[in-house]
Amino acid sequence: MTAPLLSVQSASKRFVGLLAVDSVSFDVSAGEMVSIIGPNGAGKTTLFNLLTGQLQPSGGTVRLRGQVVNRLGPHRRARLGMGRTFQIAKPLTRLTVLENVLVGAFMKHRGLRAAEGKAVEVLAEVGLLDRARHSAGELTLSERRRLEVARALALDPEIILLDEVMAGLNPSEVDAAIELYRRLNAQGLTFLVIEHNLKVVRAFAERVIVLDHGVLIAEGSAETILATPAVIEAYIGRQRA
Ligand SMILES: Nc1ncnc2c1ncn2[C@@H]1O[C@H](COP(=O)(O)OP(=O)(O)O)[C@@H](O)[C@H]1O
Ligand SMILES: [Mg+2]
Repeated sequence: MTAPLLSVQSASKRFVGLLAVDSVSFDVSAGEMVSIIGPNGAGKTTLFNLLTGQLQPSGGTVRLRGQVVNRLGPHRRARLGMGRTFQIAKPLTRLTVLENVLVGAFMKHRGLRAAEGKAVEVLAEVGLLDRARHSAGELTLSERRRLEVARALALDPEIILLDEVMAGLNPSEVDAAIELYRRLNAQGLTFLVIEHNLKVVRAFAERVIVLDHGVLIAEGSAETILATPAVIEAYIGRQRA
């Protein structure tokens, strides 16, 4: 049997006086689109930080294709195929859009020519090629989010972790983003996504994981989870629209 692409076993993170992630276990198979939902403060971003290596777990194991990556930092995990964006998009605003992507591309592609080729390819993929020479500081919110995705794609990830990348976008920008992610998924990229927008979760995820107070309280098909009254009321009903 081949190992799941991502396997999380009893992952925990304790901050002073708070168990932010409490023994969370789940697997993600190659090619899946999985959403993580839950109220603010549920531990979603902290869980992502454990997966990507921004934070060290207090306990538990994270495996990528069967390899334990607990002790590897974010750059090593990125090179092993784990891409991510941040909840607050933070491009290097004094660099151009192209240079921002090159920073990522250089981690994986040696030599200016190869890195530039990759950067141009991913900028075209996310629809930002015409902005390549502009300063990243000039981008709109939706363009900044796409730049974040391009930066992650430049490292040829196998799985990409997106943290609330739809927040603040208008409906047509949301639709365009969903289309982009579905297209990337059709090309074989696996997605693990923290998302509040239910329309996005429905359009996007095959499987939904619900976190509350650091605990994985429900997991199942999007259809089942989103139709469970307790989940809707407790974990979605009190969310911002
Ligand atoms: N670096 C930190 N130090 C202490 N507490 C933190 C830290 N990061 C997050 N927390 C706390 O952990 C809990 C989970 O936060 P977070 O993972 O950001 O939740 P979510 O992304 O689901 O909104 C919150 O109570 C938050 O205040
Ligand atoms: Mg968060």
